Amino acid sequence: MSSKRRDVLKLGLLSGVGLAWPSPARASHDGGSGSPPVTPFQRPLPIPPVLAPARSAGTTDYYEITMRQAQVEIVPGKLTTIWGYNGIYPGPTLKVRSGRHAVVSQTNHLNESISVHLHGGHTPPDSDGHPMDLVAPGASKDYDYPNNQIPATLWYHDHAVDVTGRHVYMGLAGFYLMSDAYEDALPLPKGVNDVPLLIQDRLFNSDGSFNYPLNDDTIDSGVLGDRLLVNGAIQPYFQVGRRKVRFRIVNGSNARVYKLALSSGGFIQIGSDGGLLSAPVSRTSISLAPAERVDVVIDFSPYSLGTSVVLKNQNGDGGFGGGSSSATTDIMRFDVVRNEADNSAIPSTLRTVTRMSASSAARTREFSLGRAFINGRRVWVINGELFDPSRFQATPRLNDIEIWKFRNDSGEAHPMHIHDIEFQILDVNGRVPAAGDKGWKDTVLVPAFGSARVISKFTDNTGVYVFHCHKLEHEDHAMMAQFEVIWTP
Ligand code: C2O
Ligand code: CU
Ligand code: CU
Repeated sequence: MSSKRRDVLKLGLLSGVGLAWPSPARASHDGGSGSPPVTPFQRPLPIPPVLAPARSAGTTDYYEITMRQAQVEIVPGKLTTIWGYNGIYPGPTLKVRSGRHAVVSQTNHLNESISVHLHGGHTPPDSDGHPMDLVAPGASKDYDYPNNQIPATLWYHDHAVDVTGRHVYMGLAGFYLMSDAYEDALPLPKGVNDVPLLIQDRLFNSDGSFNYPLNDDTIDSGVLGDRLLVNGAIQPYFQVGRRKVRFRIVNGSNARVYKLALSSGGFIQIGSDGGLLSAPVSRTSISLAPAERVDVVIDFSPYSLGTSVVLKNQNGDGGFGGGSSSATTDIMRFDVVRNEADNSAIPSTLRTVTRMSASSAARTREFSLGRAFINGRRVWVINGELFDPSRFQATPRLNDIEIWKFRNDSGEAHPMHIHDIEFQILDVNGRVPAAGDKGWKDTVLVPAFGSARVISKFTDNTGVYVFHCHKLEHEDHAMMAQFEVIWTP
């Protein structure tokens, strides 16, 4: 028995055994009455503070973060208990440079074990935030990020086995923005006109506390909130000048898939999960599944002063949960309030993404995604198996190129995420992706009863990683598996 396996049994957290699971009783989807009403566009968009390194030495910056509980006002007039990195939700933003190490010391002042994962990071296994690599209450861990990768919009979030969904819902998520000299030299909008947006949905109880209804139904569908939050505020507004503004959008929701659109005009997409696209792409709508990122520029110069533009969710569901009919269709509002000089531009060439060809792959692995009934419970499985930290479902050799095919045998879409690597999408349901999905990715939405093929090279790091559905209730119950990158002479 591996030592990790023994730890699991000791903690009583083994996925699939059911010890960390809710009772089988079926509660109603939203706990009954829905969240308290909140008038949209009353709060300004919060921008999470940028965390300065505690110290720097040579090519390494050292950061210190403490996870702790706090009370914040999200629903007007009420207090919500959150779990936050440095006690804030979202956590502080880390701004790092490609090629410079960041060591993040994470201290756990919560009353449950945690694991911190840098999503999108090309990180050695001992700093990757494997779900079994837990940091107990009171303990600390130094996460060492080499940042040896193409700059991108990354995010860090909790990854504790079986309870990631509840931990992220409580607020454990933040931005990790990587840049380099090449990107600095591009004339894209910068500074206050380079804005991170973390989109999440939540249910609230009438006292303002988060309502996380985990039951057999929500394990099946994922927990969907009836309020949309951006950077921790419900449907905020953001004042912009008549100019171009860059937005780095992260879907940090547990399970909701958005279809982003503007009430007028469109987006110019410049990046995806793993960094800039080869060239900008005009989009009128963008599908964004949990954990996916999209980097866009919106040009507000055609609008007259006083105009408002709403960021819409075309997948929203009207009056669901007793909220106003716009509660899940209106994400936030941009208010054009000033004339402003704009020396930014969107270059026609961004960063070359060389497409990998299927013929370069050493092998193809196929994974089925579906439901199973285990001990009378309906669960989620990969290749028929619940997450088990003693098993490996793939052992790619270091520096091999592989194609991974995900075949979805269920009627629910699954955003599949692979740790450690960036991949390219070869096809979804047999079709080559549109231009906006031809860049570097780490999460791909596998449609209901459909399939997706991705291709990647397993470079630099050997060791154990996970891949999983990023609908967090699916991941926790227990649509996750391990792969081990092996070195063979
Ligand atoms: Cu964003 Cu394994 O997760
Ligand atoms: Cu990840
Ligand atoms: Cu799923």
